[in-house]
This record gives sequence, structure tokens and C-alpha cells, in this order.
Amino acid sequence: MNWQHKDLCALADHTAQELMTILDTATAFKGVGERNLKKVPALRGKTLVNFFIEPSTRTRISFELAAMRLSADVVNISASASSLEKGETLLDTARNLEALRADLIVIRHKSAGSARFLADRLNASVINAGDGAHEHPTQGLLDAFTIREKLGHIEGVRVAIVGDILFSRVARSNIQLLTKLGAKVTLVGPPTLVPASFSPLGVEIAHSIDEVLEESDVINLLRIQHERQRKEYFPGVGEYSARFGLTKKRARRLKENCLIMHPGPMNRGVEIDSAVADGKGSVILDQVTNGLAVRVAVLYLCSGGAPMASSATDQ
Ligand code: CP
Repeated sequence: MNWQHKDLCALADHTAQELMTILDTATAFKGVGERNLKKVPALRGKTLVNFFIEPSTRTRISFELAAMRLSADVVNISASASSLEKGETLLDTARNLEALRADLIVIRHKSAGSARFLADRLNASVINAGDGAHEHPTQGLLDAFTIREKLGHIEGVRVAIVGDILFSRVARSNIQLLTKLGAKVTLVGPPTLVPASFSPLGVEIAHSIDEVLEESDVINLLRIQHERQRKEYFPGVGEYSARFGLTKKRARRLKENCLIMHPGPMNRGVEIDSAVADGKGSVILDQVTNGLAVRVAVLYLCSGGAPMASSATDQ
């Protein structure tokens, strides 16, 4: 299966086969990353601009490292250090980056649709690193990659995504990818943050974390996105934690091999108990490691690289 897209804006735009192509290519690149010589020349001579208008640790740094692994040159810019601060439009800024011969632009922006807006107007590849509450495609991919790596498959796996679904781009990308690959997804949270309008996406809805503990193969805890909420959606953090937090007591009810996931950044003691985050079953740091392999694969494929199978790099 060939990947014939210059951009990655939303997992909703792609077929299950295309998304599996990314996961398989990421598996191959994870193998490369475990060798002594981790760099390949695939993007030598290309320039990637990391354009983050919202804060990030994991995504920005892993895109930077991914570009380095592929031998690309990398420039990082932030909103405060760009002429957006002086009133330049997003498109004008992006066109100037392209005029400086940027081949790939990785963008994180508070507005849903910003990555697609640029992708449709630029020749450069545009990769969405999170657009408002819309999608965070590489997070969805790295989550699915981690599930497949740890459990061996995705089809039929029961995944509970718990928390602030309404404002979560991570949840939307996870829902798109996991349902396409045959997982059984349940969204869990208060009705204000998990409205019934999500049902047509092919998911179950539950309003109590206690309903899903024993049956889940994966439990993915999300942060409350205070920065995107414009009013109070639950009585308070204490109430939320008591009703939806993965406490030590609740964690004891999980299946023996249940994966505990979190996209980060975590609010320890709110959506997840600190000991649970660091304890048995937690794959939170594996997710971060896998994010690098996934981002290498995305940059490589969007630059015209041929899809790879994992065995291709096992020598
Ligand atoms: N998961 C995630 O997007 O983390 P950062 O905000 O640190 O990039």
C-alpha cells in the first residue's frame, strides 16, 4: 500500500489501510532507532520547520528528533518569537516559511482546521501536531502503535478513553483510528464532557469509570483541558477525581494485563494517582518513545518515502 499524501492533517481523512501503512513503517523505524547508528539519509537536504503556537514538550521535541534521525535540517519557531505577534496572518507567516524553502511544516495551533487550511494552500508538507479540539493525528497513531506493540493486535481490543472527551483532540484522533482498526472504544466521563453526540462515531458511552474497569484491555486517561473550556463542566477537581480518577483502589480492579495510558501532560492526583502512573501496567513512557518512531514514519512518508515493513530493517 502506497502513501500518496504530502500532508497529515486528520486521521479522519485516511483509510484503515493507509493508517496501517504508517504503523508498519513506524515499526521499521523503531528498529532503526535501536541500532548504534540511528540516522538515515532519507531527508538529507530537506528543511523542517516546527511551528508551535501552543505549548508542547513531547510532540515538538519528538518531531525535532524525528527530523534529525532522517538527516533533515530543523528550525523551531514559537508564536511569541514570530511576527504573528505583530499581526501577520498565519497564512502569510507560512508562505514566508515556504519562501525560505521549508519542505515540511509541523504546526500546533489553537484553531481547529488550521493545519488543513495551510495544507490546501502550500506546496510544503503540513503535519498537524494538534489543532484546537479537532485532532492530534500523531498522538492517535502512537497510542495505536503502543497498543499493537504491547497486545499484539488492535482488532477486538476494548479501549476505555476517560475524561474530557469534548475538548480533546487526542480522543478524536484515537476514536478515528481505533474504530477503523476494529477496536471497541468506550468513552467515559460526565455527561457534560461526553455528550451522546459522540455515539455516531461508533463508540459506547459510559458515565462512570467503575463500569469499565474490569472489562477494559486499555484505559487511556485524559487531562481536563482547562485552556479550552469556557465554563465549568463539573463541580470541581476533587469531585472529578473522586468520580473519574484512576485511583490505586480502582487500578486493583483492572485486568492483569490492562495497559494504562496517558498522552501527557499528566495532572497527578487528578485523572491518575501518582503511584498508578508509575506502577505496573503503565505504558505512559513507552508511548513517548513510540511517538518518535511514529513521527519519523510520518515525515518520511509525507516526503515521498516508500512504505516499509518491519522485517525490512531487521538485518
Ligand atoms: N501529548 C502531547 O501532545 O504532549 P505535548 O503537549 O507535550 O506535546
